[in-house]
Amino acid sequence: MKKPETEAISGFCCKLHFHSAEKKVTDSIEYIMVQNIKMKTILVFVSTLDGKVTKWGNPFVRLWSSKDDQHYFNKLWNDTRLIVMGSNTYNADPMKPSSNHLLVIMTQHPSEYRRIETLGQLEFTNESPEQLFERFDKEDQDQMLIVGGAHIATSFFKEELIDELWLTIEPKIFGTGGSFVLEEKLDINLQLISCERVNVQGTLIAKYSVIKNKNIKLK
Ligand SMILES: NC(=O)c1ccc[n+]([C@@H]2O[C@H](COP(=O)([O-])OP(=O)(O)OC[C@H]3O[C@@H](n4cnc5c(N)ncnc54)[C@H](OP(=O)(O)O)[C@@H]3O)[C@@H](O)[C@H]2O)c1
Repeated sequence: MKKPETEAISGFCCKLHFHSAEKKVTDSIEYIMVQNIKMKTILVFVSTLDGKVTKWGNPFVRLWSSKDDQHYFNKLWNDTRLIVMGSNTYNADPMKPSSNHLLVIMTQHPSEYRRIETLGQLEFTNESPEQLFERFDKEDQDQMLIVGGAHIATSFFKEELIDELWLTIEPKIFGTGGSFVLEEKLDINLQLISCERVNVQGTLIAKYSVIKNKNIKLK
């Protein structure tokens, strides 16, 4: 048997291919062992050109986000099993449990939500970002979608637990409103993966990967 060839893929997963020379029935057998593939964490927001994720503080984002973004976000939501959000985002627009998703709401007061909790579908937790990541990574979830808001996004960024930021940029300026991170010292570098114009007005769906640097971990 030939030695396994290693192939590094996107820095954190590694595939091993074994080729059998002795196989008689078919020409070759390829065993593919996938090791160390960690769960991918994606942070998703819709923002204005001036970086606002709420219009003057109003939490109802769909009042101003484009139909194209709403369609894209609905599809992303429907395609995703594990979705994490902060209690403020949840309370602004509470959603019902669904067997298609595991919605995890981060709160320091999970006991206040026990009567509406449905284990495996709608859960409330006071786990830290790191504990959540470790739990779902161990469960072999392939993707965690983090849908805000700013408090939760900032906590995950500070723990270097965001792999990609998928940011819809609406060609609007609100002047005042919330940002997608809190106003504190951060130093996060990202690299553009793709950018797509999705309508005539020029709504952009941009995807960035976070360049991670453990040496400058912010606490
Ligand atoms: N434009 C967009 O794409 C978009 C997306 C999402 C949200 N939003 C908007 O953003 C607003 C909500 O954002 P937000 O920043 O105020 O709240 P948030 O991030 O949704 O929730 C923050 C709350 O989560 C709880 N929490 C639990 N663990 C935490 C941790 N490790 N770090 C921080 N918070 C933790 C705390 O509340 P308790 O412990 O008291 O429960 C905290 O006050 C809403 O207006 C929403 O509409 C916009």
